[in-house]
Amino acid sequence: MTSSTTAPVLRTDYQKAVAEYWDYERDPVNLRLGEIDGLYHHHYGIGDYDPRVLDAPAPARDDTIIEEMHRLETAQADFLLDHVGDIGPSARLLDAGSGRGGTSVIAHSRFGCQVDGVTISEAQVAFANDQAERRGIDDAVRFHYRNMLDSGFEAGSMRGLWTNESTMYVDLFELFAEFARLLAHGGRYVCITGCSHDVTGGRTKAVSRIDEHYTCNIHPRSHYFKALAANNLVPINVIDLTTATIPYWELRAQSPVATGIEEAFLTAYREGSFHYLLIAADRV
Ligand SMILES: C[S@@+](CC[C@H](N)C(=O)[O-])C[C@H]1O[C@@H](n2cnc3c(N)ncnc32)[C@H](O)[C@@H]1O
Repeated sequence: MTSSTTAPVLRTDYQKAVAEYWDYERDPVNLRLGEIDGLYHHHYGIGDYDPRVLDAPAPARDDTIIEEMHRLETAQADFLLDHVGDIGPSARLLDAGSGRGGTSVIAHSRFGCQVDGVTISEAQVAFANDQAERRGIDDAVRFHYRNMLDSGFEAGSMRGLWTNESTMYVDLFELFAEFARLLAHGGRYVCITGCSHDVTGGRTKAVSRIDEHYTCNIHPRSHYFKALAANNLVPINVIDLTTATIPYWELRAQSPVATGIEEAFLTAYREGSFHYLLIAADRV
């Protein structure tokens, strides 16, 4: 059952700026990859790339590199979903900050259950619902123009939920309070995120550049665990994916769809000021 919220979706000037960014985003680094198989991701990849893609002869070289990047991004979504737990077809899942919907589509094809996605970009909602319709899964996979801080879904209605690179836009204490409300007892929350390293103290220049580029606020690692603990979300898995994501960035830096932010990511990961983490936590 879904209840709706009457409060405005965008509450702050900051949220309006974030929504506008995603409403107008048409970056080939997302669109050209998504066109390969209709799975549109707005997240990064994990795993080693096949170095032979860099030696592919022109004119096929560009497409070969792009296909390899897409494979690594899909592997990241699969890895996230490996940690959602045992999900049967009668379960309900939430994709919080769902982008163009790639992770939701994979979740439905894997678990056969209902998946709801929320994003504050109306353009993304329209795009993702259109994709679900084309696949004939729009009865089970639905995207909504809603704020994940106040999603309007019924308390305890979700067996699992995830944020795939969307926590850096919100206050974690507010977000995890809403997730604790939505999850059934024993339900699982999975997060993949970049976070800054508390030990290096404060934001390095490379991390600040990433924030500036995406209009986001990368949180320190400690904030995740404080906010989880404050909201009855108990970590069961914490996996450092930093080493696993570096090859993706190395490949992306040499790709025809590089955006210029690649060096900041590579610097931040290599200098140790930034980590790429998966955190899975149970609602108790
Ligand atoms: C980097 S994209 C990730 C998209 C998607 N999770 C994926 O993996 O492809 C960040 C997403 O967070 C969404 N977002 C940011 N703040 C939000 C909020 N307060 N409520 C809902 N969605 C939000 C953006 O609209 C965007 O869809």
